[in-house]
Amino acid sequence: MGSLDGRVAVVTGAGRGIGREEARYLAGQGAAVVVNDPGVAPDGGGGDSSVARQVADEIVAAGGRAVANTDSVADWSGAARVVATAVRAFGDLHVVINNAGIERGGALGRLSEAAFDDVVAVKLKGTFAISHWAATYFREQHAAGARADRSIINTASGSGLLNPLPTQTNYAAANAGVAAMTTVHALELGVLGVRVNCLSPSMIRTRLTAAVPGMPTAPATPGAFDPNHPAVIAPVAAYLAAADCPLTGQVLSVRATAVTINRGWSAGETISSGAEPWTVDRLAIAARELTVTDPYEDLAASLSGALGPMDTAQVRALVAAQVV
Ligand SMILES: NC(=O)c1ccc[n+]([C@@H]2O[C@H](COP(=O)([O-])OP(=O)(O)OC[C@H]3O[C@@H](n4cnc5c(N)ncnc54)[C@H](O)[C@@H]3O)[C@@H](O)[C@H]2O)c1
Repeated sequence: MGSLDGRVAVVTGAGRGIGREEARYLAGQGAAVVVNDPGVAPDGGGGDSSVARQVADEIVAAGGRAVANTDSVADWSGAARVVATAVRAFGDLHVVINNAGIERGGALGRLSEAAFDDVVAVKLKGTFAISHWAATYFREQHAAGARADRSIINTASGSGLLNPLPTQTNYAAANAGVAAMTTVHALELGVLGVRVNCLSPSMIRTRLTAAVPGMPTAPATPGAFDPNHPAVIAPVAAYLAAADCPLTGQVLSVRATAVTINRGWSAGETISSGAEPWTVDRLAIAARELTVTDPYEDLAASLSGALGPMDTAQVRALVAAQVV
């Protein structure tokens, strides 16, 4: 008996990295899986239809159920085909993992319009497109009287949540948008019995993070637990996918074996001018009561975890090298 017996899942970007491990793990837990991946380069260019097929073949060879799909999630009708593939091949859809993502970084004055559009198209619009078509199917099923737990699992990044990084305008904005959509969709789809949550992987060794400073190498001892392996995310995804999981509307960061619930933006102090409108002069005085943080100090604190102690001068120098 697996925790996902009888469930049908779509995993986008499942040909490599985190998505591949999620697809394999879900199948190992009994789910039938649509392995979606056009097999593109890390920046979204090119394509290789064998990438999704290989993962689907591996799952089937191991005794599981899987089919491959090579549509791009950024393509509106392609996203519809991804969802339709699950229903056609396996008769239903219970779990959607929006995992596909690409990266094309650059500091603001150097980031091209195309790089912005492409990253947002895959991560933000792709999550919307797949979820839109899944929600359309879920709504039809609900109207026809079918009742089942269904689960959408989005994928964000610390870059768009707690750890914004220079050179990631497009990636951070798209990932923050995915976290925001998660809450909206949890509210909207809860009335149909659909739970919507979000995972935020951290420091997972894939081709997207190959150049991240401080990324540990794989353990030398064969079989030793590797806390940075893409497989560490899969059990958390399977937990969120299971019919008896109570969570909805949550964003969980996963780093090695640590699973942290995110609280999102939270309000700090309030200043008010009472019944009178503000003036700039009065604001200049009253605003001193607000506790403000220095973004370079925040970045130094977050980078110190991976790179060792850093001060704001070092961080400013690192950023300047990208911007000036
Ligand atoms: N690796 C990390 O530490 C980390 C950290 C935070 C967030 N993430 C997120 O996790 C997800 C997976 O990243 P990864 O590190 O496994 O990267 P990866 O490059 O190894 O895998 C991503 C897969 O998505 C596929 N893909 C790209 N564009 C697609 C499209 N338009 N439609 C369908 N599939 C597409 C790629 O072909 C690739 O196989 C991404 O959304 C990424 O932003 C990863």
